[in-house]
Amino acid sequence: MCGIVGHFGPQNSVEIVLEGLKRLEYRGYDSAGVSFIDEKENLNVFKKSGKLQNLKDHLGEVNFTARSCIGHTRWATHGEVNDENSHPHSNNEIALVHNGIIENATYLRKQLQDQGFKFQSETDSEVFLGLLAVSRKKGLSFKETIIESFVQIEGNSAFVILDSQTSDIFAFKRGAPLVAGINEISSEVLVSSDPYALAGMVNKIYFPEDNVICHLSASNKNLLNFYEMDGTTSTRYLSKMLAIDAAVSEKGDFEHFMLKEIHEQPELIRSLTQYYFDGEGLESLKRISKIETSKIHISACGTAFYAGLLIRDFFERFNRINCTVELASEFRYRNPIIDSKDLGLFISQSGETADTLAAHTLCKNEGIKTISIVNTEGSTLYREATDNLLIRAGIEVGVASTKAFTQQVLTGRLFSAALEGVLNNEEEKKKLVNKYALLAERVDELLLKIDEIKEVAEKIYNYNGFFFTGRGAYYPVALEGALKLKEIAYVHAEGYAAGELKHGPIALIDHRMVNVAIIGPELFEKTISNISEIKTRKGIIVTIGEENNSELENISDYYIQLNLKGLDELRPTYINIVNQLLSYYIAKLKGTDIDKPRNLAKSVTVE
Ligand code: G6P
Repeated sequence: MCGIVGHFGPQNSVEIVLEGLKRLEYRGYDSAGVSFIDEKENLNVFKKSGKLQNLKDHLGEVNFTARSCIGHTRWATHGEVNDENSHPHSNNEIALVHNGIIENATYLRKQLQDQGFKFQSETDSEVFLGLLAVSRKKGLSFKETIIESFVQIEGNSAFVILDSQTSDIFAFKRGAPLVAGINEISSEVLVSSDPYALAGMVNKIYFPEDNVICHLSASNKNLLNFYEMDGTTSTRYLSKMLAIDAAVSEKGDFEHFMLKEIHEQPELIRSLTQYYFDGEGLESLKRISKIETSKIHISACGTAFYAGLLIRDFFERFNRINCTVELASEFRYRNPIIDSKDLGLFISQSGETADTLAAHTLCKNEGIKTISIVNTEGSTLYREATDNLLIRAGIEVGVASTKAFTQQVLTGRLFSAALEGVLNNEEEKKKLVNKYALLAERVDELLLKIDEIKEVAEKIYNYNGFFFTGRGAYYPVALEGALKLKEIAYVHAEGYAAGELKHGPIALIDHRMVNVAIIGPELFEKTISNISEIKTRKGIIVTIGEENNSELENISDYYIQLNLKGLDELRPTYINIVNQLLSYYIAKLKGTDIDKPRNLAKSVTVE
């Protein structure tokens, strides 16, 4: 979805904003643009549909330098993909970039046209430029202009605005992501819709709340000031010190971010128990362990939803708590039955997914407690939930989620363990810590056997379609495996409960179809029967299961052998990493854009 960046400071703003936009490419976009004040104090706007490289070519060899610049990557909603509809929008005095939707744009557009404002694009975003232009004519200050305009628009939006008279940048939002950061050594200030754009560039990061204006200006003693919409100073933001580590934004020796992120998993698993049992996370786990509830409503989207299915198993198995898991886009409109003692649990990597936030608001409005399992500290979900469990996955750049899924499931297990009273039972605690350590070790081993998975990928990548199947806790893994494959390899893949295949989909099975059968020790014989049904119909069988098993050996065309011993409830999470690798190598053979698959966005901030 759209990405916004603004920079103010001694370094060349154009370069810094272009670097920020490059980092936001992973979110998905179809045009890009920048606006800045050059050395002769002229306001420049350069924008181009297509890839960021088109914009860079358009900027040409001219070495533009500027002390303040704003930029945008657009994911079209209102108006087709073309240069005019790209951002920034400008009237030669003001330039703006926008992320979100102005819901009353049609009405406001008409009003502005009646007042003589000439639109140059079909976008809803330009309506806000019109409002600013009209207010400005009344002789208001720039801040007052913003305040008067912002109250007139409906819907969730974030804006970054450049004022040509002062070179100042203003940023503010309602229900959309926005982050600001400052580098106290080099005096650079940045704003963006995504903390990733700022990584390695700032040492202090701020998450402003809704309706707080961030003002980036040389006239501010601290370069960055915060105001309320009535013009008074605001303290409504979270702030955090960061280490400046440029490496977080790089792929290192890996060909893709996705592969890098898959490889980060052992270390992340290790540090998760440390954080929750010995580190800063202990306090949040302690608070959460005191929750009393007889029903949990889990709601999430995409991969996070599948993590929710696995987490439900933990609550049912270890806590015997009634638990439902629903897609947030369905839950929010379904009029679900919510009792005052119920608990809402929301899972999200970004903490900004529009449907997940809406499902969360529904629970809040019902007056129940809400918990998030979230990666992005300071995100909207993080701020709005009653309490949070961070998954500590670091920045995930690959659009297809990998490490975040693993950390979500493992954090969910810690939640269920805390409710079980594990925090007060040293022996149980130790058992769990050892199990996580064992999982990390096994993932390390798996990463050493990557060639075996690559070979299977080479054998199967050209088949017509893929069924991922599993039973019990392996069913969500089948769903997530199929999602990963279709996301990045653009092949048809379905996740199915192995026992359900014969109720329809088996009609599709023939010698051109692959069944990736996920099989743990639970319901082993029954799953073998399901695989036989496919084998009889000449489907190609890839099994992922316990090593050295003769039954699996006999039934499989390709058999990915794993040591599952001792992992118990963490087995599905382990097997899922095999699916991540399998999808990755199939996609590589297909030659797709693995980190930025077509049509997908990392953070889906519209409904
Ligand atoms: C998008 C991403 C998925 C992600 C889903 C939910 O579709 O491409 O990878 O699982 O959104 O995102 P969230 O940030 O809420 O986990």
